[in-house]
Amino acid sequence: MPDAGRTLPRNDPRQYDDLAGEWWRPDGAFAMLHWLAEARAALVPPAPRPGALLVDLGCGAGLLAPHLAGKGYRHVGVDLTRSALTQAAAHGVTAVNGDATAVPLVDGCADVVAAGELLEHVPDWRRAVAEACRLLRPGGLLVLDTLNDTVLSRLLAVRIAERLPTVPKGIHDPRLFVDARALVAECARHGVGLRLRGIRPGVPGLLGWLARRVRGADRPGPTVGGPTPRIVPTWSTAVLYQGRGTRSG
Ligand SMILES: C[S@@+](CC[C@H](N)C(=O)[O-])C[C@H]1O[C@@H](n2cnc3c(N)ncnc32)[C@H](O)[C@@H]1O
Repeated sequence: MPDAGRTLPRNDPRQYDDLAGEWWRPDGAFAMLHWLAEARAALVPPAPRPGALLVDLGCGAGLLAPHLAGKGYRHVGVDLTRSALTQAAAHGVTAVNGDATAVPLVDGCADVVAAGELLEHVPDWRRAVAEACRLLRPGGLLVLDTLNDTVLSRLLAVRIAERLPTVPKGIHDPRLFVDARALVAECARHGVGLRLRGIRPGVPGLLGWLARRVRGADRPGPTVGGPTPRIVPTWSTAVLYQGRGTRSG
């Protein structure tokens, strides 16, 4: 399991530099981000007009880009991590090095703002939500996914996940997980009516990926078959959840 090469505090963004080679390995340490990006992109409709802008906050290496292909957006990605942005740019994303809590873009510029697996990494997630809503034009769409601030989430996403070859150790700080009700209230304060649904990885795909990682079969070499991992809806938002909402005019 590739972990950050140095011993860094939990959630330290420098971990993404140490793990830079993992972003685009489909079965690698960030594999679940690929599955989540596909599920997030499915919430985004085709662009409403030529030149429509999608701002991808905390875009990482641009994993959303292939799933937006053909939808007609200009894809601008904002991230703290330069090594990730270089990879995002190579996948057609206009890369902006910046903080999601102080985005260097003008009010109302975005038809869509995406914030995938970002808020649980931002110490002041409310500030990032305010920025996301500020960037949206009236009628614009916010799509996000994050980890809930619950005992079950801390157990599954940190204590158990970090013991298995799933998420890199130390990538999450459970103290930053985002209470779902507080998130809905914060979006409402900024004019976005956010609707939530619980999501989870599909079991066959997850088990196949885990098995390949335990065997080391995720490393470069002959392709190993198995069900394609997918994110599916689930009845509870207690762990992982998606949000989708439109900014009022
Ligand atoms: C778990 S990754 C998700 C990346 C991408 N959204 C995806 O789903 O593939 C979190 C990303 O957020 C970035 N990040 C963390 N805090 C940030 C902040 N305050 N402003 C901008 N980016 C941030 C990290 O550098 C990293 O690329």
